Amino acid sequence: MNVSSGPGPVSGAGGLRALRDLMVARFVSAGVPTPVVDAELLLCYVLGLTRGQLQVQIALGDRRVDAPERTALAALVQRRCRREPLQHLTGRAPFRALELAVGPGVFIPRPETELVAQLAIDDLRAARVAAAATGLDPFAVTEPGALTRLRAVDLCSGSGAIALAMATEVPGVRVWAVEKSPEAYAWLTRNVAESGVTTLIPVLSDLGTAVPELDGTVAVVASNPPYVPIGMVPREPEVQLFDPELALYGGDDGLDVVRALSLRAGALLRPGGTLIIEHGEYQSASVAALLSADGWGEISHHHDLTGRERVTRTVKLSVA
Ligand SMILES: C[S@@+](CC[C@H](N)C(=O)[O-])C[C@H]1O[C@@H](n2cnc3c(N)ncnc32)[C@H](O)[C@@H]1O
Repeated sequence: MNVSSGPGPVSGAGGLRALRDLMVARFVSAGVPTPVVDAELLLCYVLGLTRGQLQVQIALGDRRVDAPERTALAALVQRRCRREPLQHLTGRAPFRALELAVGPGVFIPRPETELVAQLAIDDLRAARVAAAATGLDPFAVTEPGALTRLRAVDLCSGSGAIALAMATEVPGVRVWAVEKSPEAYAWLTRNVAESGVTTLIPVLSDLGTAVPELDGTVAVVASNPPYVPIGMVPREPEVQLFDPELALYGGDDGLDVVRALSLRAGALLRPGGTLIIEHGEYQSASVAALLSADGWGEISHHHDLTGRERVTRTVKLSVA
């Protein structure tokens, strides 16, 4: 293996453990934040192993890495050392139970967004139970091909992470996934096609004018919009250089798209419907203020796994 980065090229012909350690050393010198995980996931990708199988092979020490595999690994290590995201190298990003296709032109789904999906799924399941209790059948089809009654919308859908999570985890829901960027939309439609889900409708549109035919009928609107203030360029090269600008920046205070989202979701939702928004850790108060000014009720903030307030949930009041 011959990998160049930082101090210079290194050659090595040892076993799997030596190869892993060499990759880790390269990643450390290139400033990759999770060097061991990245080295092992790239080994898994090239060798066709699960992480558990890789650990076993490292422990046994009898897995040979042939020349084509070493060449493939060397190329990937160079790209990762240039801080190309791991998910672009493997072409896949995990999100809840999904493995989404990702690459240039689309935002890579993040673990914290799984909380947005969870809150949306909880609300949809509750809406389904409530509908059943009142005798309304959430699966009801009033005419051939008509829409189901339980509706959700993912505004700013990107790869389709939140929309696909809702569509695959809530029986009977029909989901619209709205995305403005044609490049991201191509990834969204690919992920929908690969999933085999037929209850998700991708829509190429600005959220401000999207799906007017659904106004007043939607149970849940979920969104991970762009919310980085224009002057706060992210430090990580993976984000700064590879995530699309349209996915990151939301004007001077970062909340331009959230303001549009509040208005559009207010029109889409039925009374009692919920809006769930991801935002930056210091934006809870500003998001609450703008939602409050727009007439939303029951505003609550939710923490991600590191304890930061990253998601706000609010309810459309019956009388605004
Ligand atoms: C932070 S990314 C989130 C993508 C995905 N929901 C996720 O969580 O991985 C924001 C997405 O919103 C899209 N977007 C930005 N402005 C938009 C607008 N006005 N209308 C619709 N989509 C928009 C971007 O292209 C990008 O795909």
